[in-house]
Amino acid sequence: MRLFTYLLLFLLPFSLSYSQDVTIPIETENTVMVLKTDHNNRLKIIYFGKSLSNIDEYKQTGDVFNFQDEGASSNNSAYAVAGIDNNFIEPAIAVIHTDGNNSLDLLYESHTATQTDDGATLTTITLKDPVYPFFVDLLYKTWNENDVIEQWTVIRHTEKGKVVLNKYASANLYLNNTDYYLTSYNGSWAKEMQPEETHLRQGMHTIESRLGTRANLLTSPNFMLSLDGKATETSGTIMMGQIAWNGNFSLQFETDMYKNLHVVAGINPYQSAYHLDPNTPFETPRFIYTLSFEGKGKGSRNLHDWLRDHILLDGHGDRLTLLNNWEATYFDFDQDKLVSLFGGAKELGVDMFLLDDGWFANKYPRNGDTAGLGDWEVNRKKLPDGVPFLVREAEKEGVKFGIWIEPEMVNPKSELYEKHPDWVIKEEKRPEIYFRNQLVLDLANPEVQEFVFEVVDDLFTENPTLAFIKWDCNAPIFNGHSKYLEREKIPQSHLYVAYSKGLQNVLERIRTKYPTVPMMLCSGGGGRSDYNLLKYFTEFWLSDNTDPLERVFMQWNYSYYYPAIAMCNHVTDWSKDKSLKYRIDVASMGKLGFDIRANELSEQDMRFAQQTIVNYDDFKEIIWHGEMYRLANPYEKDLASLMYVNEQKTEGVMFNYLTNWRYLAETSLRPILLQGLDKNKTYRLTEINLYDGAYTPINDQKVYSGEFLMNVGFNPSVNSSRSSVIIKIESIE
Ligand code: GLA
Repeated sequence: MRLFTYLLLFLLPFSLSYSQDVTIPIETENTVMVLKTDHNNRLKIIYFGKSLSNIDEYKQTGDVFNFQDEGASSNNSAYAVAGIDNNFIEPAIAVIHTDGNNSLDLLYESHTATQTDDGATLTTITLKDPVYPFFVDLLYKTWNENDVIEQWTVIRHTEKGKVVLNKYASANLYLNNTDYYLTSYNGSWAKEMQPEETHLRQGMHTIESRLGTRANLLTSPNFMLSLDGKATETSGTIMMGQIAWNGNFSLQFETDMYKNLHVVAGINPYQSAYHLDPNTPFETPRFIYTLSFEGKGKGSRNLHDWLRDHILLDGHGDRLTLLNNWEATYFDFDQDKLVSLFGGAKELGVDMFLLDDGWFANKYPRNGDTAGLGDWEVNRKKLPDGVPFLVREAEKEGVKFGIWIEPEMVNPKSELYEKHPDWVIKEEKRPEIYFRNQLVLDLANPEVQEFVFEVVDDLFTENPTLAFIKWDCNAPIFNGHSKYLEREKIPQSHLYVAYSKGLQNVLERIRTKYPTVPMMLCSGGGGRSDYNLLKYFTEFWLSDNTDPLERVFMQWNYSYYYPAIAMCNHVTDWSKDKSLKYRIDVASMGKLGFDIRANELSEQDMRFAQQTIVNYDDFKEIIWHGEMYRLANPYEKDLASLMYVNEQKTEGVMFNYLTNWRYLAETSLRPILLQGLDKNKTYRLTEINLYDGAYTPINDQKVYSGEFLMNVGFNPSVNSSRSSVIIKIESIE
């Protein structure tokens, strides 16, 4: 015993000076993640939850959890490594050093916290391997008011040669809650954003994409994690977020034997070992999350505000209402037909006409989706006077002109493919595999990046007043092999990352030269909507499925992560069994567009459509820039109800949609509780978008206090003869 005490006394000063006992709180207004070094100088996550007013207490937050057990003490690493024997949990990073050794240990070195120019706090923590000159910087950019954290890593080394990164996640979290319900989303063409709830209990649950380009066709990078039981719209603790990457992503949720949840998020390591040169920092994509203690509604509003304030291009600006010709004509149009449609756009009263697919290619004309993609000169037979003529004619009618492109892709039947077969991603030794008859161009190749940039640049050079671009992307990467990487002797396992970064380079160049022009992110429907690409876009296309009933559900699901200003909703003829009113009312809950043959509308329908656009122009500020509240969930009730309120709480709009046409549907037995109003203000509620003078039971002479509307509620009287009801809410002095 004496000997033991002696040894302890001898060792103590050494271990004290070795271990720095550092506590680093990553704080937002309401949340904190506390990181702390252990006695070996390894950085641990000791707490993730509500922030405390006395920051001195953070260092002891971990003491009340069971981190002492041998296994538990390694599971809460701030960035779990592979290859040392004290880590038994899924690694965030796995490497092979230049000498072939595949172990990694990361000890705390230093940290800094600075204010960024855009108003966030950036905490940078440097970890270093004690044996190898290998470093990982953990970065946390915190947005105080939004309660949003952007987390990522920068990986670097000064070894002599290339270090192979077999896994290189953006973030690693550790949650000590009691019960975890994960909502993730699967999908396919016309079935995007279908929610699935999983009660996480034991082992690993992975959400990932391997599609390369249109990363969220089959799975979405968005997730919602209810902690300590199921959260509701207005109560409970919930983490909501996204891995913001336009390429293959992976979100891993691992529940350990202590019932703690380990989350690893980043680029999917699938076929993507990265050979990193010395002194060449590798920056991983951002893992974005918010923690709300007031349910899903608050979580969504945090993300909406953050996206509009800091990511989405022109998040506080205007958007253009439009008439698109895709479903109205498909590939079957010519100059005269298009010009005749411009009149329809004007008559409807929208801001812009959007010309979709089919306007280009001559040797292999783009008259269907089997040929011409890649050949971006105007089809002279269909459009003899070119795009400038169309722009002029549209402008004569007082509408702006926008155009569709899909510049990352090629049909094998195209001049581009004939001229540059080596620009195409494919395994030469294997049969080509097509998706919508097309292949993906190799954006790892700078020449291809230049080509894609020029597609856009040429359009603007020829048409300086071009008002809008719809940027599509239909095919995933099959048989991923790059001739360019082969020539440059770069490993093929760089392809997925190089593609994603190549696309970003192009978009960066486009935005440097054309910083403001609105662009819609589209991907064979809604295959792309990541926060990373939304830096370059003003809006995105949710799905080719424009059936309004399906859209109510889809828009509901997207609304958890995206503000209305970012979401393009078009009125189409997809489902004519629903009234024009229902279709327009559903599309009005976002960025409104039309994709119909306006000239075929009856006089009455045209009058109604015109009125709805006037109404939309009147309330769009509120839904684009205000706060959103989900009031009635169509998955739980026979209707959906949502509302938007402006910042001053003086104006709002409430959207109500019937989702069950059965006689037994219960839609108007009870009022709906409004949210987000000022309880001391008095409001008048007026029904708008009434079809041709239809009767409304809503008496706009009655007034209600905000308190009444939020505690007793309001009944919009939704039923099968009033299947959609839009209410304008105005405070009166
Ligand atoms: C994709 C888009 C559609 C339309 C077509 C054109 O499917 O999602 O909106 O633009 O391409 O080919």
